[in-house]
Amino acid sequence: TMENKYPCHRPAADEFRTGKINLDKTLKLLIKLNIPFDYVHVKYVFKKTSNQPKTGTITIEEFRAIYRTLAHRTEIHELFCSYSPNRKILPEINLIEFLRKEQFVIDAAEAIASELIAKYEPIEEVQRKKQMSFEGFLRYMNSKDCLIYKREHTIVYQNMSHPLRDYFISSSHNTYLISDQLIGPSHLWGYSSALMKGCRCLEIDCWDGPQNDPIVYHGHTLTSKITFRTVIEVIDKYAFVVSDYPLVLSLENHCSPKQQEVMADYLETILGDKLLTTIIGDTFPTDLPSPEALKFKILVKNKKVGTLEETVLRRGLDSHGEIGEFVEEVEQSEDDEADESTPVLPKSPQLKRRNAVKRSPPPPRKKRKVKKVKLAMELSELVIYTKAEKFKSFEHSRANQKFYEMNSIGETKARKLAKQTANEFVLHTAKFITRIYPKGTRATSSNYNPQEFWNVGCQMVALNFQTPGLQMELQNGKFMDNGCCGYLLKPEFMRGSTTQFNPYNVTGNHNPVTLSIRLISGYQLPPSNLSRTNKADPLVQIEIHGVPEDQVKQQTCVIKSNALCPRWNETFTFNIQVPELALVRFSVEDQISLAANEFLGQYTLPLMCMNKGYRHVPLFSKLGDRLDPASLFVYIWYY
Ligand SMILES: *[C@@H]1O[C@H](CO)[C@@H](O)[C@H](O)[C@H]1NC(C)=O
Ligand SMILES: *[C@@H]1O[C@H](CO)[C@@H](O)[C@H](O)[C@H]1NC(C)=O
Ligand SMILES: *[C@@H]1O[C@H](CO)[C@@H](O)[C@H](O)[C@H]1NC(C)=O
Ligand SMILES: *[C@@H]1O[C@H](CO)[C@@H](O)[C@H](O)[C@H]1NC(C)=O
Repeated sequence: TMENKYPCHRPAADEFRTGKINLDKTLKLLIKLNIPFDYVHVKYVFKKTSNQPKTGTITIEEFRAIYRTLAHRTEIHELFCSYSPNRKILPEINLIEFLRKEQFVIDAAEAIASELIAKYEPIEEVQRKKQMSFEGFLRYMNSKDCLIYKREHTIVYQNMSHPLRDYFISSSHNTYLISDQLIGPSHLWGYSSALMKGCRCLEIDCWDGPQNDPIVYHGHTLTSKITFRTVIEVIDKYAFVVSDYPLVLSLENHCSPKQQEVMADYLETILGDKLLTTIIGDTFPTDLPSPEALKFKILVKNKKVGTLEETVLRRGLDSHGEIGEFVEEVEQSEDDEADESTPVLPKSPQLKRRNAVKRSPPPPRKKRKVKKVKLAMELSELVIYTKAEKFKSFEHSRANQKFYEMNSIGETKARKLAKQTANEFVLHTAKFITRIYPKGTRATSSNYNPQEFWNVGCQMVALNFQTPGLQMELQNGKFMDNGCCGYLLKPEFMRGSTTQFNPYNVTGNHNPVTLSIRLISGYQLPPSNLSRTNKADPLVQIEIHGVPEDQVKQQTCVIKSNALCPRWNETFTFNIQVPELALVRFSVEDQISLAANEFLGQYTLPLMCMNKGYRHVPLFSKLGDRLDPASLFVYIWYY
């Protein structure tokens, strides 16, 4: 009979020796049997199953019913039966056929099949016969071996020996803030948590502090202050925990030369050998070094007096107490704040808060002014490969910019350039590192969509890491690739000085892909916030984020009142022109009304990291926590 297939028979008997069991014991037994469960679902399945809801206990038969409800996935059982000659046992030869036909295993299917039987078949007798029971098959389908995400991409697999500018680099903006930009507290936690997410470019906003000790906070605003020294100490501690590849400290420097000197001292004494203080190699370079060559190094990005050549020539000379000066022409529109974005607070913070919400952006006004920049030479000399240079135009950069100079461009201006002169932008980023930052009017730390700047090859698309939402989901999904190391090699067609790539006109070139996703079912989805039981009316949106032509969203129908095991069995097909830049996002929502959905969970990954075949899709909450065992079950193929 069916019952005999479940090995829970034997261990369960023990638990029921003294009669019935309660919910608590039921949970413990499920853990013992290795059944992933969500407490809310089990609680309601238990209530529904128990014949004596008053005593709150169940019999062994009732336990088996609960077990079946949670573990017996009909859709997986159907799949099992379609390859099992007797609908009970899957002989190795049929498993091999399944792997070849459905899971796109090309090589060594025999060896993999026997490995899977050894790994997942719990009944010894069946394992010895080189077969798989449904129980074993279920374990395999729920395992890491059936994740949608390619295992090969969970380690660093890309060539890390290209110049730095050939990579997308995980970058954060206003790293120290954890909530609101105007009143939110500055916490060191922001730095460590960004580093733990693989971020490789941190922004540090530095100001003169009391007792000649520089402080870090968001200029002119009420965010609390922390000293520059403690920030560098935290960075020293967490810099290379998650990634070996170089870390860039993007200094937002508002300090007097006197305190800049103190900053330089802290950088040198606290970071020690980690700090990059001179060029790599014996001869003067003509190009940026690679992430590989800069492993375990921390680079300072700041303005710099003079050239890198001059720094190299001065090497070994004491620059203590010297101040360098240069003049910078600033042309700015109202929307693109001075160098970086800093909302300026008038006297009364209350007033500003109200204004920040109400103010509609004024029409951009051009003003020109000349700014004198004073730099402590000690700090200036620490800037090697990442000299901050004011962006004027692509033309100006082509004629004047050095390989070690990089630009920061505000999102509004960058968006305009991307729309009007996309290929020129791609040519610029193929040559120089370009950083994009959010406009200063984003007082609530909201984020812009990073995709449109990745589309033109911008390396550092800085986001507020503390602000959850679609934008950070795209960021986290993209940088999961290449072992979460924070560096992704740009696709070949975006590299090199002659690239003709234009994200707004992608016809004719590249390797378009047809992607099909059969969304089969959901499993233990997070119940709706609004439901007092374990219910929701779930639907799934599948979105493609990439070049404009690839941007598309499709949606399943709504399954009423079932978050435990909704079944859709709907197929979606996408024609994707530039698969190398495409991200796929699954968003699970609860339909509250015809006009409103409640977010339940999501998963985002690069198309090129997707496995084919029957796979499960893990889900993450708005705050980025994994919602195990909540998942989607899908069948994927593309060519
Ligand atoms: C990695 O890239 C470097 C720089 O382009 C190149 O010289 C090298 O041959 C590449 N290595 C591999 C294994 O492709
Ligand atoms: C798109 O690029 C192709 C060549 O790659 C060109 O023939 C065509 O005119 C371009 N279309 C537009 C709208 O620019
Ligand atoms: C659940 O509802 C509460 C109150 O309505 C709300 O604050 C919270 O954000 C909701 N959670 C989710 C995940 O939507
Ligand atoms: C699911 O859809 C596929 C084709 O899209 C079909 O062959 C199959 O029979 C469907 N399964 C169920 C259970 O409806």
